[in-house]
Amino acid sequence: MENVYDFGLVGLGVMGRNFILNVADNGFTAMGNDLDTEKVQALIDEGGNTDRVNAVEDVSAFAKALSSPRKIMLLVPAGKVVDIVIESLLPHLDKGDIIIDGGNSFFTDTDRREAYLSEKGIHFFGAGVSGGAKGARKGPSIMPGGSKAGYAAVQPIFEAVSAKYEGEPCVAYLGPKSAGNYVKMVHNGIEYGLMQLTSEIYDVLKKAGNLSNEEMHHTFKSWNDGRLQSFLVEITSKILVKKDALTNGDLIDQILDKAKQKGTGKWTSQNAMDLGIPVPSIDIAVSMREISALKEERVQADALYDRPEVTTIAKDKLTKLTEEALYFSFIVTYAQGLHQLADASKEYGYDLDIAEIAKIWRAGCIIRARLLADITEAFQENPKLPNLLLSPSFIEKIKGTVASARELVSYGATNGIPLPGLSNSLTYFDAYTSSRLPLNVIQGQRDFFGSHTYERLDREGIFHTEWEE
Ligand code: 6PG
Repeated sequence: MENVYDFGLVGLGVMGRNFILNVADNGFTAMGNDLDTEKVQALIDEGGNTDRVNAVEDVSAFAKALSSPRKIMLLVPAGKVVDIVIESLLPHLDKGDIIIDGGNSFFTDTDRREAYLSEKGIHFFGAGVSGGAKGARKGPSIMPGGSKAGYAAVQPIFEAVSAKYEGEPCVAYLGPKSAGNYVKMVHNGIEYGLMQLTSEIYDVLKKAGNLSNEEMHHTFKSWNDGRLQSFLVEITSKILVKKDALTNGDLIDQILDKAKQKGTGKWTSQNAMDLGIPVPSIDIAVSMREISALKEERVQADALYDRPEVTTIAKDKLTKLTEEALYFSFIVTYAQGLHQLADASKEYGYDLDIAEIAKIWRAGCIIRARLLADITEAFQENPKLPNLLLSPSFIEKIKGTVASARELVSYGATNGIPLPGLSNSLTYFDAYTSSRLPLNVIQGQRDFFGSHTYERLDREGIFHTEWEE
């Protein structure tokens, strides 16, 4: 079995196994590799025909089985494991072979690996893969960046296995170096933001309208037929009515309210800070996962403070308010993430095409949403659009929904219901659309205590004042 398989994949966990089966479904032959005998056997069993899908534990046999140039994708946990796997592969590779890191690697690690491997004549690229296990099997959104020549060899396979939006594959070469991993990182930051927002809407429907899980299921389901149509709204509607096998009640009511994280949302926030790009809807989503982790302290603090009595809102009114506020804050969250991408593109030389990114997010990925078709059009019309909020087609969408966002945020504040994602989105909007902010006071303070100087509205130059005689 030498030099026959079109595609190799290292890491036969759930994602890896599903991805390789997807490759085989699309007419390519694929060879898997994992140190775990059980995983190797599981793939052979599931693959059915070893001429089409096979797997081995031995790295040398794995490399020998692949046709030239070898196309090897890694779906292993981000971090040190990626370096270990690369080192284990290297003695068995030839110049011109291609390694694709399909995990959520930190983008600077991808830059380091690409530089290291290109010296050895190996093409390396990071490709974000979104869509979870089902996506990997049925069609994920794939975000490759790095070696363009390397990508050309893999392009037919990726285009075949990716999700399709109206027949168009949800994969595109995004840019040099770590562009693929960077775009996937920001995708996940937006994902954190949208997830936080949907959880807040659930909270307010439940507390302000006393909606049952069943009623909320119908609300989210009906939204999914409209402009809020998105994977996250769709799965929320399903989650709300899933029965618990242990209690026969609704599973959602038994799930501990501590959200875990693997770090991609935090990296998005951290890097946005480094770039000086505000993404408060993403920042607060990360902070809320951190606050959620403080369950024991929250329980203690809850007993120490009174909470206002919640005033209920009539269901019809509440449904309209929440739908509009959610639509508004979804837009504002995408706007922030895309703004970060545009800035990172300049800073890191990625030369990103934002319309192309929005396009490949329209299907397959976790943040897929009807809105992304409109976002694609907005950036196709004006590729240099600095912020989605400046797009003519979005101005109307925002104007039609911002009042509900205001009403809901003030309702949350008055009634002691935390709506931080919604309020950060609203605050971002209000600040971004203010021609004059009170930061002149901060400049005065900085100059007062530290002679940090300030600029003036009425003339050019740098000024310093002796504030006290
Ligand atoms: C995707 C997801 C995927 C993963 C997240 C979960 O696009 O398919 O983003 O990459 O599910 O990384 O992240 P947390 O564990 O940090 O929530």
